[in-house]
Amino acid sequence: MIDKVHIPPLKTQGIKTKLVPWIARYAAVDAGTVWVEPFMGSGVVGLNLAPKRAIFSDTNIHLIDFYRAIQNGELTAAGCRKFLESEGARLKSRGGDYFYEVRDRFNESHDPYDFLFLNRSCFNGLMRFNRQHRYNVPYGHNDNRFSKAYVTKIVNQVDYVQEKIAESDWKFLAMRYEDAIATAPSNSFIYCDPPYIGLTSTYYDTWDEEKEKGLHDSLMESGCKFMVSSWSHNDYRSNELIGTLWSDCHVSYADHAYIVNGKHKPVVEVLLTNYVPE
Ligand SMILES: C[S@@+](CC[C@H](N)C(=O)[O-])C[C@H]1O[C@@H](n2cnc3c(N)ncnc32)[C@H](O)[C@@H]1O
Repeated sequence: MIDKVHIPPLKTQGIKTKLVPWIARYAAVDAGTVWVEPFMGSGVVGLNLAPKRAIFSDTNIHLIDFYRAIQNGELTAAGCRKFLESEGARLKSRGGDYFYEVRDRFNESHDPYDFLFLNRSCFNGLMRFNRQHRYNVPYGHNDNRFSKAYVTKIVNQVDYVQEKIAESDWKFLAMRYEDAIATAPSNSFIYCDPPYIGLTSTYYDTWDEEKEKGLHDSLMESGCKFMVSSWSHNDYRSNELIGTLWSDCHVSYADHAYIVNGKHKPVVEVLLTNYVPE
C-alpha cells in the first residue's frame, strides 16, 4: 500500500504520479520478483514500488544515463544543490539566452546535470527530442526558476532516488522494449507504460500500431505475469485495440485527469493484465 508518492527529479509527459497507488495495488509482485519496467520514463512507478530487484529500461538514453549517474555517484544530491544554485543564478541574470546556451551544451556533451537543469526550467516539464535526438523543448520563461525552495525540493527528490538505489539491486539499461522483455528473468513481473496509441504525445521515439502489436506479442511470449497501462476512451474517442489486440487480457478501469502537453484531458485509464488482479 503506497500512501505518499515520491516525485522523481525528472518530469516527462505521461508521468504516472497520480496512478502509482492504483498500479501498486494491482501489481502481482512478491519479495522474490524482479520488477521489469521497459518504458521507465520518469521512473515514478518503480521508484515508489521500490522492489528489491529491478531492471529499468527505456530507449531514451538520457533518462537512463541520469539514473546511472546517480548509481555510480557522478550525480549526487549535494552536487545538484551546488550546480542548480550556481546555474540558477546565471539563469536569473541572463534568462532565456542562458537556457538556450545550456541546451546547446547538453546536446553536445549530454551531461546529466544539464539535463536536470533543462528539464526543470523548460516549458511545461516536457521531454521532447527532434528526429536527430536533440533535446528541443523551449524555455519555460521563468528566470527565477531555481529559487532556494525549488532547489531544495529537487535536491530532496534526488536524495530519495540515491537512497533507494543504494539499498536495492537495480539495473538501468538503454534498450527497446522487445529486448527488455526478451531478456527478462523468468521470475519477472513486467510493467509496461508505452506511449498511448492514438493520443498525440512526442517522446524520444514514435509509437504506432505495429509497435503496440509487437508489445502484446512479446509479452504473451515472455511467460511472465505482466501489466500494461493504456487508455480506454475519453469524451470523443475510444481505443479500439482494447477490445481487439488486447482482448485476451483482463481490463481494470480507473478514472483520472491525464496530462498531455500540459493540458488535463479526461481519459479513462486502464490496466491490462494476463491475470485477474486480487
Ligand atoms: C508514457 S512514457 C512512460 C512514463 C512513465 N511510466 C512515468 O510515469 O514517467 C513512455 C516511455 O516509453 C519510452 N519509449 C518509447 N518507445 C519505446 C520503445 N520502442 N522501447 C522502449 N521505450 C520506449 C519513451 O522514451 C518514454 O519514456
